[in-house]
Amino acid sequence: MSTAEGKNDAFGVYVHWPFCLSKCPYCDFNSHVRHAPIDEERFARAFAREIEITAARTPGHQVSSIFLGGGTPSLMRPQTVGAILDAIARHWRVAADAEVTLEANPTSVEATRFSGYRAAGVNRVSLGVQALDDASLKALGRLHSAREALDAVRIARAAFDRYSFDLIYARPDQTPRMWADELKLAIAEAAEHLSLYQLTIEPETPFFGLHAAGKLKTPDEATARALYDVTQEVCAAHGLPSYEISNHARAGAECRHNLVYWRGEEYAGIGPGAHGRLDIGGVRHAIATERRPEAWLMRVEANGDGVVTDDVLNSEERADEYLLMGLRLTEGIDPKRYTALSGRALDPGRIALLREEGAIVVGAGGRLRVTQAGFPVLDAVVADLAA
Ligand SMILES: C[S@@+](CC[C@H](N)C(=O)[O-])C[C@H]1O[C@@H](n2cnc3c(N)ncnc32)[C@H](O)[C@@H]1O
Ligand code: SF4
Repeated sequence: MSTAEGKNDAFGVYVHWPFCLSKCPYCDFNSHVRHAPIDEERFARAFAREIEITAARTPGHQVSSIFLGGGTPSLMRPQTVGAILDAIARHWRVAADAEVTLEANPTSVEATRFSGYRAAGVNRVSLGVQALDDASLKALGRLHSAREALDAVRIARAAFDRYSFDLIYARPDQTPRMWADELKLAIAEAAEHLSLYQLTIEPETPFFGLHAAGKLKTPDEATARALYDVTQEVCAAHGLPSYEISNHARAGAECRHNLVYWRGEEYAGIGPGAHGRLDIGGVRHAIATERRPEAWLMRVEANGDGVVTDDVLNSEERADEYLLMGLRLTEGIDPKRYTALSGRALDPGRIALLREEGAIVVGAGGRLRVTQAGFPVLDAVVADLAA
């Protein structure tokens, strides 16, 4: 279904589980290690409470996708996942064909747990495999071996029709040839979807300090570019073309939940440090919750939700967000929607210049798409168009 603005009526619910067994040295996600057991029942009650309050702000919405992300949601007991999904179904209408994804870490994958998640309503898993050789996994600080990762993929395949896994590339000492071989191995194990992320050195992570001290060398710009090109070529040749800068899928197997973000649709963010974008009273709200898990818990128990910021986006901000997210997709953006959101058209002179440079193309229906050559400099392309 489409609205006058030309957008789809998708509505996603993101639920954040903020705990991990250990903190990976490259990761700056809102994930925490606790040495005492987590009171899952207390967290489940708080999730249900925040779901109830958020649903009351979004009457009439039908949920088309749910994503349990983290952290490591596969550390939750299936009953906890069931309680969260039940709360969502109690307070919102959930489409019969809703996509329900759970992120899993190969270390915590057991067949019995997976069948429990399936019984609770999960119908897709996304596994954090990261690499398919033991030396790289160790260097990334991962707790699993390549063997365990592949076993986890097989368990996922047996339990779910839909699964995906993540790999990180542009790792220290990785050559395009090594990466092409690893990728082919990955594709042989993948069914319909792969997320392939270039290693990013995030501030305030152990990798950042090591990198700054010259103890962790990432590929230079030319090698990083060659690794990116190999990713596109190998995946496209094996039927998994990119549909977003880091995501590859067979046609029709794209992650519907992530498309909600990139297409600028509405989504609710539940749990510590979750972000949401909700249209309330005809305006778009950018909402974020308290990041610290225990502080979030106490806030929800006291107030019903953990919201710490709730900003109304003005038309310019909204349109910029559409550009920033939409141009990550190979389908690109609809300039008419940009105009409807911002009240002004994109500058034809800038579009012409970026076309001449080979960074963008104008496709069917006038959609603007970033080219293969433009993706590695996406930030600059977006900044240019939004200026
Ligand atoms: C929030 S993590 C959740 C997955 C799960 N906790 C795991 O690690 O198995 C989502 C994905 O982001 C990617 N990621 C996290 N930090 C990254 C970084 N600094 N550079 C590139 N990819 C990163 C990893 O591939 C990871 O699987
Ligand atoms: S397991 Fe995943 S979320 Fe947790 S620290 Fe590692 S990459 Fe981050």
